[in-house]
Amino acid sequence: MVRRKLVVGNWKMNGSLAANSALLADLSAGLMSEKIDCDIAVCVPAPYLAQCQAALSGSALAWGAQDVSIHASGAYTGEIAATMLCDFGCRYVIVGHSERRAYHAETSQLVAQKTVAALQVGLTPIVCVGETLAEREAGRTDVVVGQQLDAVLALLDASDVAKIVVAYEPVWAIGTGKTATPQMAQDVHAALRLRLAAKDAGAAPMISILYGGSMKPDNAAELMAMVDIDGGLIGGAALKAADFLAIAAAA
Ligand code: G3H
Repeated sequence: MVRRKLVVGNWKMNGSLAANSALLADLSAGLMSEKIDCDIAVCVPAPYLAQCQAALSGSALAWGAQDVSIHASGAYTGEIAATMLCDFGCRYVIVGHSERRAYHAETSQLVAQKTVAALQVGLTPIVCVGETLAEREAGRTDVVVGQQLDAVLALLDASDVAKIVVAYEPVWAIGTGKTATPQMAQDVHAALRLRLAAKDAGAAPMISILYGGSMKPDNAAELMAMVDIDGGLIGGAALKAADFLAIAAAA
């Protein structure tokens, strides 16, 4: 099964109208001039979705959000509904990023509900899983990421399993400059794909599993050369057009 590579930039809480304008213009220009043969997207802070919609309509660069509410509408101050993301042309939404799990107490059950909310309106959820350093050192990586994934799979209709993207992001590698070796990442990706296959053997080979955690131009190619690593979820390096484009070119 040949899966098309997917490279997604997670801008996290960075940006300004002026800085985004320059970055999006550089990315659009780079996409036209450089040899990039993968799907590519940026997930931006919600206030900048309209800017992406205006700047990127018709571009090969897709866009999305970094979180979504489990609710469709109502008295949920500060929340953003999945339909609102659709209004601004989003294709993707990140759910369950480790920063949301750690700083906003998001449980795997909540992440599962967010995944369902995204799928119900046709968004592609990028479901993040990952272990802490303590969990890795205790030999619990596969158990931890397996439980995180299983919680999501338990809520999905059979017809929806193939529609998710999974991102494996070891917490100890995020923003630290420490990257999982290609083999370490591959081992976890393979375990995740087995887990997907246990839920839906037909869907598992079709699901993209991205790696995230200090992916840079100089390590992207060897990571994405691994058989079960289908792209990247890029943080810091997504804020520099040249780096992000170089990672996409390596895909
Ligand atoms: O969502 C992206 C990840 O948290 C990776 O961030 O590339 O800055 O390590 P990073």
